[in-house]
Amino acid sequence: MEFINLGSTTLAAQYVAIELLRQIQSNKRSKLGLATGGTMEPVYAQLVQLIQSNPVDLSEIQTFNLDEYYELDTESKQSYLYYMKHHLFNHIDIRPEQYNFPNNDSVQLEADNEAYDRLIMQDHPINLQLLGIGTNGHIGFNEPGTPFDSNTRMVELTNETIQANARYFDSIEEVPTKAVTMGIRSIIKSHRIILLATGEKKKPIMQQLFQMKYPDEVIPASVLIHHPNVLVVTDDAASPY
Ligand code: F6R
Repeated sequence: MEFINLGSTTLAAQYVAIELLRQIQSNKRSKLGLATGGTMEPVYAQLVQLIQSNPVDLSEIQTFNLDEYYELDTESKQSYLYYMKHHLFNHIDIRPEQYNFPNNDSVQLEADNEAYDRLIMQDHPINLQLLGIGTNGHIGFNEPGTPFDSNTRMVELTNETIQANARYFDSIEEVPTKAVTMGIRSIIKSHRIILLATGEKKKPIMQQLFQMKYPDEVIPASVLIHHPNVLVVTDDAASPY
C-alpha cells in the first residue's frame, strides 16, 4: 500500500477528486467504484467543481456503488442512491443507466447479487475504486470476519456501524440493521484502489492497519496489503504516523 498524508481534510479530498477526474480524462469508458459516507462528501463537492471547470466526457463512464441499506426505500433521504444523487449525480451530466447499485430488495436478491458481480466484471474490472474505512476496518459493508473471497450479498451490520450511521437518522431504531454490499472479491479485482481516511476517529484503525504485515479477515481493509495498486490518503488527524 502506498501512503500519503495531505495534512488538511480539504486537500486530501481535493487530491482524491483530482485522481477521479484524471481517471475519467484518461479513459472515457472508465468504470468507477464509488463509496458514500461523510468522508466522501467533500470529495464529490470538489469533483463537481472540477467537472464543471474542465473538459471531460462523462457519457460513457459507468459507476458502481459499494452498498445500499437492505429494504430501505431508495427514494428516502438516508438511502445511498439519494446520497449519490444529492452529492454528485444531480450536478453532473450522467444518465441513470450509467450508475449502478446493488439491488436492496428481497425479491430475487441472490440472482441480483450475482448479476451485480457479473456486471462489475463485464468487459473489464473497475478502473478506480474509491474506499472509505469504518472505525472497525470495514470496507463497503464488509464487516470484520468477512471472508476475503466474499461476493455481493446481504449482510448484518455491526453495532459499531449502526451507531456510526445513526447520525443520518432521527433515532438509532430507524437505522437499518442489514445492507447489501459489494463483496471483497469484487473490490480487490479493481485495477486501482484509493482509500481515503480523514478525522481523528479513523486514526486508531489506520494505526492498526499500518502495523499489519499480512492481511487478516479481522480487519477487512487489510486485504489491500497485497493488492498491487493501492493508495491510502489521509489528513493529519487520521494519519497513522
Ligand atoms: C459506504 C462505505 C463505508 C464507509 C465507511 C466510512 O458506502 O463504503 O465503508 O466508507 O463506513 O464512513 P464515513 O466516511 O461516514 O466515516
